[in-house]
Formats: sequence, C-alpha cells, structure tokens
Amino acid sequence: MESYENSTECLSAQEKGLNHVPDYYEVPPSQRPTLNSPFADVPLIDLAGLYEGPTQRSAVIHSIRQACSNLGFFQVINHGIDESVTEKGLAAAEEFFKLPAAEKLKFKSADVHKPVRYGSSLKDGTDKIQFWRVFLKHYANPWKDWIQFWPQKPPTYRENMGLYCSETQKLAVTLTSAVTESLGLTPNYLTQNIQDGMQVITSNCYPPCPQPQLTLGLPPHSDYSCLTILHQNTTGLEIKDNNDNGSWKLVPFVDGALQVHIGDHFEVLSNGLYKSVVHRVVLNSEKTRISIASLHSLGLDEKMEPALELIDEDHPKKYKGSSFKDFLNFLSVNDIGQGKISFLDTLKI
Ligand code: OGA
Ligand code: NI
Repeated sequence: MESYENSTECLSAQEKGLNHVPDYYEVPPSQRPTLNSPFADVPLIDLAGLYEGPTQRSAVIHSIRQACSNLGFFQVINHGIDESVTEKGLAAAEEFFKLPAAEKLKFKSADVHKPVRYGSSLKDGTDKIQFWRVFLKHYANPWKDWIQFWPQKPPTYRENMGLYCSETQKLAVTLTSAVTESLGLTPNYLTQNIQDGMQVITSNCYPPCPQPQLTLGLPPHSDYSCLTILHQNTTGLEIKDNNDNGSWKLVPFVDGALQVHIGDHFEVLSNGLYKSVVHRVVLNSEKTRISIASLHSLGLDEKMEPALELIDEDHPKKYKGSSFKDFLNFLSVNDIGQGKISFLDTLKI
C-alpha cells in the first residue's frame, strides 16, 4: 500500500484524473474525432444457423462473405459463449486495471516480443503521440502453457480470464471455418493452424477523458490477425466505412453480441477479396471503457500467404507472405500511431 502514493508519478496522464489533456496526447486537427459519428450498419450474424441444416448454414456463410468483403466487420450472436464467461472476463480485466500502480508496473515493458506486457498508449516512451488507454496483453493459447506468466492479482484473474480465453479460442476456430468456407475453400482449410496458432489477449482500459475531442484511445489501425473477437462494456469503437468515402462510423452496442474484425492476415489469405477493417477508439468524459480483444493468427513463425485456389491469371498474387513474428518486428521499429505506415501496406505487391 505504501508504494501506491509514491508510484503515482509512474502513472500515465490518463490514470491521474487530470482536468485537461497534455499536449503530447493531442492528435493533429485533421485526425480529431467529431464525437457524433453516425452508427455503422454492422451486420448482425446469428451463428445458430451454422448448425441448423445445410440451407441455414449456407445462408450464414453467405452473410459472412458479404460482411467480410464489404466492411471487414460484423457482430455475432448465439456465438456459444455463455454470458457469465464474457462478464467474468471483462470483470477480470477491470479488476486488474484497478490494482495499485506498483502491482501493474511489474508487467510494464516496451519490448513488444514479451508474452505478457502492460503499458499505456501503443509503445511506451518511444512513440511521438500518446493515446488515452492502458493495456495488458498476453499470449493465451493453449492457456495451460501461458497461464503461469499471467498476473496473480486479482486472485480470480487467471481462472476467469483463462475460461474466457479458451472459449474465445473455440469461437475463433468456428469463425475461421466459416470464413474459409465463405471464400470457397474447405471449412477445415485452417482449422488445425488456428487451433495450434497464437492467441493474443489485449485488455484495454480507456479512462474518462476531460477533452475527448482532442485525442483518441487508439489511432486508426487494422489488426495483424486473421480475425479478432472483441468484447466491450460500452461504445467507443469506430470503423472506417469504405462504402461511404471512408467516413468514421460508431459501432452500435448490442447486448450479448461479440464484434468480429477481419484482420490483415485474412485479407492476405483472400488475396484482397476480404477487407481488413480500419478502426479506432474514441473517448468520453464520463465513463471508463473496458474492452477485451482476442487476436487469432497462425503460429509465431508460420507465414500467411494468399490461398493458391484464389490466384490465377486474372487474379495475380497481391500480397507477400508474413508471420506474427514479422508483424512484431515491424511494430518494434515503426510508430504506427502517426498513421503514415501500416503493416498491411508493407505486404502489398
Ligand atoms: C485493439 C483494438 C478496440 C477497442 O486492441 O486492437 O482495436 O474497442 N481495440 O478497444
Ligand atoms: Ni485493433
């Protein structure tokens, strides 16, 4: 307890309850949020249809194809994860963020290769603009291999987050299978690779912001993953709508739904047919927003390539192969918060 007061100087500005935003958090005027973005028209896909017979399954597969080629984003209901599991996952994250600073700082690191890492903004210390979030990231699949490295406080963290991780990992396999089927590939095209692949759990905490019009919780980016499953306690996530001149749209809050992002590696697999969704996080001045993003990809060194079945004379290969490790190496030397460079751009042929 005695170290709490001493360590407040280690807190980032967003954790200090300031009444203004320090200038190194201000994004350039052209990138500032309007805070009144219209809601996005996000497809709400009922996964129960996957198991109700061939007609129903193909209707679901068809809506997934539409959503992935259009926005690169959809929400799912009847996803098979019990509400008690999603709520306990969110509570575990929330309780971790409420711990005294000294406890959280044990996990602080600027090394993006660390399997467990706490931080503020994107990369601490090196990036030019800071963003109004704190995060805890850790590897999670299989959870039995990684749980020993996770926080031991709060005392229920490992059990509750472990359950959330293993359930989202199963959902990721189901979704991958539906996505590959929707591309005209087999439903088990990547099942084994995702089952044995990487799962990175990022818990995000966005404290209330005194001047939410000046800064962002996260800058525009796409996820490197094949797909990301996101659970949030309130709105704040915005996606770029390429059907509407790339304007920003707020993702509506649907009780019990989980958000699914198509990531860079599925854009690559599809050879550009599917879109890796560009998204950002806007803030509010009242309420702490908590989200858990579960990023699923192939193994650390396993390269994702465009599917050979989708390449021919009329559709030449558009992307280079790349792995999760390649992404980490990219992240460690680039400041993605400036919006000038993205991992996906480096893969385009
Ligand atoms: C992320 C992310 C969005 C959110 O962690 O990559 O985009 O709503 N999070 O917190
Ligand atoms: Ni993201």
